[in-house]
Amino acid sequence: MAIEFAARISRIPTYPVAAGYALGDDVAMLASNESPFGPLPAVVEAAQRAVVGVNRYPDPSYSPLRLALADRYGIAPGRIALGNGSCDILLAAGEALLEPGAEVVYAWPAFSVYPHLAAASGARAIEVPLDAEDRHDLEAMATEVTVATRLVLICNPNNPTSTALGLEQIEALLERVPRHVCVILDEAYCEFALTLGDPFTSVELLRRWPNLVLLRTFSKVYGLAGMRVGYALCGDERFRQAVDLVRQPFHLGAVSQGAAVEALAHQDAVEDRVTRTIAYRLALEEGIRGLGMWLADSEANFVWVRLPNSEDPAGDEAAITRGLAERGVLVRAGASLGREGALRVTVGTEAENARFVAAMAELL
Ligand SMILES: Cc1ncc(COP(=O)(O)O)c(C=O)c1O
Repeated sequence: MAIEFAARISRIPTYPVAAGYALGDDVAMLASNESPFGPLPAVVEAAQRAVVGVNRYPDPSYSPLRLALADRYGIAPGRIALGNGSCDILLAAGEALLEPGAEVVYAWPAFSVYPHLAAASGARAIEVPLDAEDRHDLEAMATEVTVATRLVLICNPNNPTSTALGLEQIEALLERVPRHVCVILDEAYCEFALTLGDPFTSVELLRRWPNLVLLRTFSKVYGLAGMRVGYALCGDERFRQAVDLVRQPFHLGAVSQGAAVEALAHQDAVEDRVTRTIAYRLALEEGIRGLGMWLADSEANFVWVRLPNSEDPAGDEAAITRGLAERGVLVRAGASLGREGALRVTVGTEAENARFVAAMAELL
């Protein structure tokens, strides 16, 4: 007899992880929107210093990181939630807010973890299609908010389509959402978005909207994906309390915390990496347009490319991702992210990006 699991286990979709981690060094890893730049030496040293003390549990209040973020963003430490990656906070938000009978509204395609929230909780997922330019259709999303809505998720810039909305549009949506409905603005890539100004601009919105939560991560611009550190800046301390209640007390390791605190102290290097990433992205976009392909307007460290129209978009996409992998280039197929006939390509180093363009030229 097989083990009997809770009914929700059969509903939860499997997260489409990237393949290829075992392929060795000579692979252009353009599939997971990571930073191509390694952690700064000072960050590595901070992690090494922290590892010496790991016979002890981490500080359960995570004070150093909470205080460093509080100081940077001018937010009370009690309104800052930390997580084992921002995914951890997202899943905890689902657990804290959703239940059978409740509804969660989000655009689709967006971040692949969003469908998990409804599936795990028994809530209803309302997926609102992106507009023709692959942007969030906030008007359509607002009309989907009902008395059952507990959570609205906005991915800005949106993964996988790379597009971003201006904050005035986000504010217009917030005006239309009742104050008891939590709105999570997932800003995993906000540092790359010129449209959004700097990472402090959206923080201002928290003053007006206590139901707003800004979800951020050290996995992208800070180059610490393997450390798993995310945070949320909350309009209301009760959100932080709720996501802490549903999780284990020690959800962030001491080494990860040490690395993140140090990473925050090197904003000049972060800005330099943003500048380089955007320059590399512009060159990558030019290369892709040169192949005659349509790209969404990227505000992130990745691009979203539509493959030429065909009778068999799924087949073409599979053949192209296979062909790219054979040439040592890993990207993400649109079908695994909610839309077939497209590719999501992370901005890598200049050499990796050129390798992608050259491989595509051969395959098209
Ligand atoms: C939009 C978005 N949100 C959140 C995350 C989660 O990041 P992490 O759990 O590494 O902080 C990702 C990762 O790819 C993402 O694309």
